[in-house]
Amino acid sequence: MSSPASGHPSPPRRGPRIAAISATIALFVAMIGIATSTQASAAPGCKVDYSTSNWGGGGFTGSVKITNVGDAITGGWTLRFAFPGSQTISQGWSATWAQSGTGVTATSMSWNGNLGAGASVDIGFNGTYSGTNASPTSFSLNNVTCTGQPGTTTTTTTTTTTTTPGGPGPGNRVDNPYVGAKVYVNPDWSAKAAAESGGSRISNQPTAVWLDRIAAINGTTSARGLVAHLDEAVRQAAGSTLTIQLVIYNLPGRDCSALASNGELGATEIDRYKTEYIDPIAAILGRSAYANLRIVTVVEIDSLPNLITNVSPRPTSTPNCDVMKANGNYVTGVGYALAKLGAVANVYNYIDIGHHGWLGWDDNFGPTAELLYTAANASGSTKANVHGFIANTANYGATTEPYFKVGDTVGGQPIREKAKWIDYNKYVDELSYAQAFRQRAVQAGFDSGVGMLIDTSRNGWGGTARPTGPGPTTSPDAYVDGGRIDRRIHLGNWCNQKGAGLGARPTAAPASGIDAYVWVKPPGESDGASKEIPNEEGKGFDRMCDPTYTGNARNGNSMSGALPDAPLSGAWFSAQFQELMKNAYPAL
Ligand code: GLC
Repeated sequence: MSSPASGHPSPPRRGPRIAAISATIALFVAMIGIATSTQASAAPGCKVDYSTSNWGGGGFTGSVKITNVGDAITGGWTLRFAFPGSQTISQGWSATWAQSGTGVTATSMSWNGNLGAGASVDIGFNGTYSGTNASPTSFSLNNVTCTGQPGTTTTTTTTTTTTTPGGPGPGNRVDNPYVGAKVYVNPDWSAKAAAESGGSRISNQPTAVWLDRIAAINGTTSARGLVAHLDEAVRQAAGSTLTIQLVIYNLPGRDCSALASNGELGATEIDRYKTEYIDPIAAILGRSAYANLRIVTVVEIDSLPNLITNVSPRPTSTPNCDVMKANGNYVTGVGYALAKLGAVANVYNYIDIGHHGWLGWDDNFGPTAELLYTAANASGSTKANVHGFIANTANYGATTEPYFKVGDTVGGQPIREKAKWIDYNKYVDELSYAQAFRQRAVQAGFDSGVGMLIDTSRNGWGGTARPTGPGPTTSPDAYVDGGRIDRRIHLGNWCNQKGAGLGARPTAAPASGIDAYVWVKPPGESDGASKEIPNEEGKGFDRMCDPTYTGNARNGNSMSGALPDAPLSGAWFSAQFQELMKNAYPAL
């Protein structure tokens, strides 16, 4: 790779998507102290395990395991404790958290309010402290002091707090739109998956609907339009809560650092983007018939970060990205999309943040967060329109690398500096990247409640080539290359990667700060054609999709690692679908 000091030449394109789930994050607003007195139920009892992990710099994560050692609790619980010091909760999950002075309450969610006899629930929070981070000495559950054994009923009088709920933006958005919700199964993708041998094992998984051109709003011969999807979503909801995932992907001068997914709008066609694309989508989403859906929008993948990494004077610059930076239309367009879509009360905007193999270097990471904040405040938008961010969309980065950590050393040599695969990146996987980006985004000015998604549709890396333990400690390269589950030739490779497998199935709230693992890139849809294919969608031929290509500055001049005989981006690629199933991790 070229000089790490100048930042990594960003592998431009989509990679594995990341889904994130975050948990329930309470906003600590307008606290009002109310004296309450509650009688606990018969034969209650609880045990609380509290632990913290300090990050340095005064931040920490608190983990709380509540075990019910008494009679079953139905209809909800409230945990109360007091911090011994200056600890302040900034965000929590799996409960509604509130703090008043040192007093903390955590109230169950609709989905974890029943706690059978002997059952336990894990909840947690992030916070700050100064001095010593001592643990609370006493906890109560439904006003019964937790002694670890069934106790006698006590009645305590406590000061409780009321919070003003609500996530960013108008309406009554929940903190995490994936919690307690079914997720929409796109029947068009599902049918293609089911038609494949073995495909019925995954054809009922939720995948995103890509609005990748103006015509996609009304529908094409091969895919239904937006209204038809939303009507079907209402049908699938069948009266329960359902989340549908849409990809907003049609910026002017789209995909400026690559060719495979260039779009229909020229670099200057910002007005068409607004009036023929975003406005009609927003009008449809705003219909009252869809008011009970939770609509997650993935906003413009592979766009803004290009203005950091692929512009002059970087060695990875492209003329098209220089044009998009100069004319401002990526920033204008993203701001416009956020503002218009965010004005619909049940829309949850998540902005794309590439993946760790693109933005994990210091020179790219912070500047991207700052640029996203600028875009979130462009075209009349405010940060309130941003619910969170998505990592790894259509990329292949592993969610976690189990066999090495970025801080490891081999023979006294730091692998971060010495292993070619890492090449000074600060992150080696998508989970650590997404969690760190969340923090950096808050620092840039975004709301503290923002949550992350990670696209895990193609980042499983199972199959026979998957390492089963760390690599040999003979050299930094041997250690990392022998132990990494991401088997790509180079981290910057992004097109139809050989050896990839399906990753974690879509999951709500899988980890701290992560709203969901999602499948945004529909498995089986090509990243790009392996040779020139004439088409009317504006798509070019990118040699990163050609298995014989020997690379460029953005992938360290490495082989592309692409599968042969691929169709146009977005078209069905049966051979890839089969390979993804074969290498699924967890296995199917
Ligand atoms: C690529 C294609 C786009 C397609 C998407 C999902 O980005 O360019 O047309 O919808 O992948 O497969």
